Amino acid sequence: MKPLKNDTYLRALMRQPTDYTPVWMMRQAGRYLPEYKATRAQAGDFMSLCRNAELACEVTLQPLRRFPLDAAILFSDILTIPDAMGLGLYFETGEGPRFERPVTCAADVQRIGIPDPEGELGYVMNAVRTIRRELQGEVPLIGFSGSPWTLATYMVEGGSSKAFTKIKKMMYAEPQTLHLLLDKLADSVTSYLNAQVAAGAQSLMIFDTWGGVLTPRDYNEFSLQYMAKIVDGLTRESDGRRVPVTLFTKNGGQWLEAIAATGCDAVGLDWTINIADAKRRVGDKVALQGNMDPSMLYASPERIEQEVASILEGFGHGPGHVFNLGHGIHLDVEPEHAGAFIESVHRLSRSYHAG
Ligand code: CP3
Repeated sequence: MKPLKNDTYLRALMRQPTDYTPVWMMRQAGRYLPEYKATRAQAGDFMSLCRNAELACEVTLQPLRRFPLDAAILFSDILTIPDAMGLGLYFETGEGPRFERPVTCAADVQRIGIPDPEGELGYVMNAVRTIRRELQGEVPLIGFSGSPWTLATYMVEGGSSKAFTKIKKMMYAEPQTLHLLLDKLADSVTSYLNAQVAAGAQSLMIFDTWGGVLTPRDYNEFSLQYMAKIVDGLTRESDGRRVPVTLFTKNGGQWLEAIAATGCDAVGLDWTINIADAKRRVGDKVALQGNMDPSMLYASPERIEQEVASILEGFGHGPGHVFNLGHGIHLDVEPEHAGAFIESVHRLSRSYHAG
């Protein structure tokens, strides 16, 4: 395996000095890139793209050919685990993900097994191995999973949701059933992420997209507790290097201290929190990732640059910041605007790292 040429992203996650602030974008491979749409058309549908290691590798590398990004992220989806549990994932055009067999009762939860990462999920590990080989040490590869709570919302709702009534009904009427499901998901996520590290992932991120719809008490009991259990069970070193872990709860700004106390290396921020406040609250306990509003990429390159400057100034001098969007890039953003964003981060951040 070739040695890593650019470790800026890994160093920032460990709060070690860097020359500039590293940057990558959530959902950096995707439909805003015409080359992604072409490869997806070649694969047929989205899951066929995920199951084809060569094509998954191709779309992972596409944004890196356009932009000087400081990390690559595995091209896959968080819903691979529920699919491997037998729920039958499919995508309805324009409707997002759906399950043929959602989880509706205690008996459904009892039937669920822990997927074998090199069995039903072997296609993900093959993608990781292929991407690591093709990256040739240019930048580190991020592996990822959904949080147990976020995966459970899709499994119980049967797809995307706005009000989360089915899973909240389970949470309040049958909490032991939901806890059994979350336990199985935590074990599955732990073995899935450890297998990604064994296959070559150099950093890990857990997406808790829907933790922010919970009350503070329920967030601890039904989401954070399970992410903390996963963090405890993860392989934290590979090839003699630390494998940093980032936790991202969308709309989780009010729980930063609790998230930082799980033992993770970094906390991902959405745009609803001021990064200067976030840094004051977590001190030097963890690194921070974020947090420009993805919709800012609709603005002019000049306006984007101003926003980048303001976020860099908010974080201030010194290491521990990975620049990112506060959530995934929108599918109708001009690729040139993403390029201007990345270039601004690199250029304007140098003065925050001098000396
Ligand atoms: O480049 C990358 O960031 C890596 C790939 C990646 C995808 N999904 C590809 C994808 C990652 C990290 C994810 C994570 C994911 N998937 C999350 C957590 C992050 C977040 O956005 O909050 C969630 C909640 C999902 C579930 C999911 N998958 C949804 C809701 C959708 C449909 C939404 C949409 O944009 O259509 C997907 C499909 C999906 N996953 C696409 C991509 C590129 C679009 C599929 C297509 O090509 O049509």
